[in-house]
Amino acid sequence: MTSELALLLLAALCLCAQESLPPYKNPSLDAGRRVSDLLSRMTVREKAEMLAGSGWMESQPNARLGIPAIKMADGPLGVRNWRGSSAVTNAAGTVPVTATAFPAGIAMASSWDTGLVAHAARAIAQESKALGRDMILGPTVNINRVPLWGRNFEGYGEDPFLASRMAVAYIRAVQAERVIPSVKHFAANNEEYERHRIDVKIDERTLNEIYFPAFKAAVQEAGVWVVMSAYNKLNGLYCAENPYLLTDTLRKRWGFRGFVISDWGSTYSTAPTVNAGMDLEMPGGEPMRRWMDRPETRRDGNGGGWLTADKITAALAEGRVTQATVDEAVRRILRVMFTAGLFDRASAPTGEVDTPEQRQLARDAANESLVLLKNTGVLPLNAEKTPKIAVIGPNAAVTRTGGGGSSLVRPKYSVSPLDGIREAAGPRAEIAYALGVAMEGEDAPKSSRELRAEAVALARRSDVAIIIVGYAPKLEGEGFDRKSMDLPAGQDDLIDAIAAANRNSIVVVAAGAPITMTHWIDRVAAVLYAWYAGQEAGHAIGDVLFGAVNPSGKLPVTFPKSLADSPAWGHYPGENLQVEYSEGIYVGYRGFDKHNVEPLFPFGYGLSYSTFAYSNLKVSPQRVTIRLRNTGARAGAEVLQLYLQPPPSPVDRPLKELKGFARVMLQPGESQSVSFALDKSAMSYYDANAHGWVAAPGRYTVLIGASSRDIRARGQFDLTK
Ligand code: BGC
Repeated sequence: MTSELALLLLAALCLCAQESLPPYKNPSLDAGRRVSDLLSRMTVREKAEMLAGSGWMESQPNARLGIPAIKMADGPLGVRNWRGSSAVTNAAGTVPVTATAFPAGIAMASSWDTGLVAHAARAIAQESKALGRDMILGPTVNINRVPLWGRNFEGYGEDPFLASRMAVAYIRAVQAERVIPSVKHFAANNEEYERHRIDVKIDERTLNEIYFPAFKAAVQEAGVWVVMSAYNKLNGLYCAENPYLLTDTLRKRWGFRGFVISDWGSTYSTAPTVNAGMDLEMPGGEPMRRWMDRPETRRDGNGGGWLTADKITAALAEGRVTQATVDEAVRRILRVMFTAGLFDRASAPTGEVDTPEQRQLARDAANESLVLLKNTGVLPLNAEKTPKIAVIGPNAAVTRTGGGGSSLVRPKYSVSPLDGIREAAGPRAEIAYALGVAMEGEDAPKSSRELRAEAVALARRSDVAIIIVGYAPKLEGEGFDRKSMDLPAGQDDLIDAIAAANRNSIVVVAAGAPITMTHWIDRVAAVLYAWYAGQEAGHAIGDVLFGAVNPSGKLPVTFPKSLADSPAWGHYPGENLQVEYSEGIYVGYRGFDKHNVEPLFPFGYGLSYSTFAYSNLKVSPQRVTIRLRNTGARAGAEVLQLYLQPPPSPVDRPLKELKGFARVMLQPGESQSVSFALDKSAMSYYDANAHGWVAAPGRYTVLIGASSRDIRARGQFDLTK
């Protein structure tokens, strides 16, 4: 046989094989056709099985039809172990899954760099595939409403516009890798206090202007494939069985075409949940049953095991759920699976974890995340001039890569601030370390008096004292709120004592949300907010302190002077399992502006080692341009922020709202024209009577700021009807 003939025969064989394949197995057909074909082959029972997981992090596979399980892993800050609840997988002794730990969401948001968020998200998606997972449970886009929320660090801050931009960047990048993201937690999950029972009361305008936009952008701009419902109730109904959320808002108003997944242990009924628009209950199978049997699971208020095949078929038989509703849920799940290529993918994992590129990306991300809050001129440090450097504090020798709970990633390695400072300071520096105070809840090697005395003596004989304080996963994380806005026990006193011993005291904070600083802020020379900056935190801290990196992060959340200044204070955590969001749309800077309260550091604030000049503002209702020049001596990035001040409107409106931003990197002396596009959505408020958005005509003021309270240029335009 000639080789041509053999090839022809082979091609014919392949064609025959293709033709005998059922349409749903044919990758060249579109997803819709494949879904319909597969659905038509499924029995009632098989369809019912699809509505609940088969394990802790797997959906139900079907061997007869070759339907794979969707293999999930927690995110959003990297790929986390998927073998059990966070209580199990974050405990020592479980088989660890290691992956790159990127900075927390709040830190990524501080970069205001959507390109960076996209790169990190792509790397997370690639690592998911390398670890054999199809789906990553993130991003978290819930708004920081109060500084005490235990999960503030996971999300993108207090502003819906900023959170939306970050969410869209993350989701597009993950989906481009054909990994399934899951934007969470829909909706209004803004406190951990009684998270399984609390009924969040919010008016329609506030939902649409503050708590919905990031989800809406995820659906409408990024075409997100999966939305995770929240644990809490919203206006009287659990989010997992809330038709207003899952059907009217997501699907009817926003056009969502993906599927809804429940948060783990958040379901309390069968028919109401399915009929409200829930598609997939998690977790499922034996792991769910074992977990639900544990008294603490129910005590905490978890619910589950409601969408099992038995319960669904019973509900079908009794007419409480229709076959069409079940078919629709299965259709949505399958459509995402086909779109993501789950039926056509090799079952073996592809790609690598912890490559040099991923490490570098984690480092670049940390570099851009850090926010310099105060600098009297002590920074950047110069080891030639101040060689004796004391590094002190409970967060110096350990890396707090992230907050606690389901987002905590185990990296292969991490760089502590102490190591990062040693590396950045170079061989001329003499670095000495003292713990100063043990982290609250962690073992202390000596008495607190001894620890403090040692640190003070060290600070006294040093040229500079770097005090590294903050929180730890056991004190800030999922499942509980922070006790207060203050630093954990003993840390304020430590800062006081060190500041009194050394006038070049620099405070570095690793935490996921604002802390109170008023006791000591005036007595220290510099403050650097490091958030939880992932596995490369230490390198970034060292490089910013010594000037190899020019800080460029800006706050995605207002820092109040005290907790009582926070606009939602007094309406948190609620009473009798209800919390009224009485501050309405006046969350974060919107509230500080309205009540004319001076924050400690405003939204959008952050210092650089460079200075920037703003000029030539030009405005129209469609476009705003401005020239930015680096007037400093170092290359650096500035984050320009565009706020809009509305004309008098029929409803009360915030003094200003963020409607654009740009992160611009400039060499010394370099200048660049920066342009922002505007459209009517930027000018609109939500009219609760009309249930829609209104762009009120009138004169709008454009404010271009280096922060929300450092406005560098103003212009106006008129919006006519
Ligand atoms: C969290 C989710 C997480 C899920 C799975 C829940 O407790 O709220 O964010 O994705 O667990 O670990």
